[in-house]
Amino acid sequence: MGIPDASQRRQDLENKFRELFGALPPIVVRAPGRVNLIGEHTDYNEGFVFPAAIDRDVMIACAPREDPQVRAFALNFNQSSTFRLDNLQPATEGRERWSNYLRAMGWVFAQEGLPARGMNCVVLGNVPVGAGLSSSAAMLVAGGLAFAAVSGAQIEPVKLALMAQRAEREFVGVNVGIMDQFISVLGQKGHALLIDTRSLTYEAVPLPQTGVSIVIADTNKKRGLVDSDYNTRRAECEQAVEILKRFLPSIQALRDVSEADLQRYGSELPEEVRRRARHVVTEDARTLASVEALKAGDIVRFGQLMNASHESLKDDYQVSCPELDALVDAARSVEGVYGSRMTGAGFGGCTVSLVAASALETFQREVPPRYKQAMGLNTTLYVTTASQGAQRLQ
Ligand code: GLA
Repeated sequence: MGIPDASQRRQDLENKFRELFGALPPIVVRAPGRVNLIGEHTDYNEGFVFPAAIDRDVMIACAPREDPQVRAFALNFNQSSTFRLDNLQPATEGRERWSNYLRAMGWVFAQEGLPARGMNCVVLGNVPVGAGLSSSAAMLVAGGLAFAAVSGAQIEPVKLALMAQRAEREFVGVNVGIMDQFISVLGQKGHALLIDTRSLTYEAVPLPQTGVSIVIADTNKKRGLVDSDYNTRRAECEQAVEILKRFLPSIQALRDVSEADLQRYGSELPEEVRRRARHVVTEDARTLASVEALKAGDIVRFGQLMNASHESLKDDYQVSCPELDALVDAARSVEGVYGSRMTGAGFGGCTVSLVAASALETFQREVPPRYKQAMGLNTTLYVTTASQGAQRLQ
């Protein structure tokens, strides 16, 4: 699927802004969605993740106001929403729910002692919503940049990511890790970031510019109970740490547990909890190994580790679903696919595959009908490249 040209989108945004507010917007910001290559459900265990920002984003055109009001318009939904920063409430009406991400950022600015100014703004996104590509992080981060710009606040990138995470956890109510917001802010063109979610340090690792493509495939299965299942997985990981602490008093998180530790003490854990822990511990190891493989130019090994990640998410962490498994199987049946796995929280959403450039056409031709035959659903394919993180556009 082709992506609408960024300059065209910007023009649509500016035209709408002028129509609504009578002048061109002085500020335009953007923040991308993400695809995680490997390192899934490790971030809230203080482990490692390896995502890239994608070439789809949320753009916001904005201008400051003299009063503490936000007048916002979402071009995607043709819906407006007006709220006051001095009396912030989540929107409960369906057609205004998109504005909760802006409200959440307004709220977090106040919490952090950086009161935001009111603004007029128009929002336009092309990150598929509810597909596990972090449209919500893109919206939060773009909102944060917009508030920072209209308020004249200077915010360090990692701080902005933490503020967006706090907004999602405390205002929106999903207890997410830091990966999505971090990569949306700090992503680098042509690179994936190996993020240490404990120290919040990272290493940008170049992705091959020729020879392989990153292909995202959407199951088009809307994620159902993802929030409650997500929070349950978190609780199971915390339970594992509590029990293992009796034997390993210095551990703070599953990040500190080795595969040998688990072999030794795993039998002390309830069976399900042991499997959750085993996923996290092995996934951290796979993530570090996959980055080594990539640096050594060993794409075959990288792909094998992606495959192993999927099996672990499916069998031990149990966050896959028949649609994700069918799409992974369809992808792996194409010769020239190095690896394929679910990406993001799971229970629906997207897969990510590493595909030899020479196999891309076959992939695009063969995978959709195979998936359709298995599940009766259409997939949407996005061939993506690693893009730059959030920025104010000139
Ligand atoms: C969601 C969360 C992230 C991360 C992934 C799973 O995308 O927002 O913090 O936990 O799920 O890896």
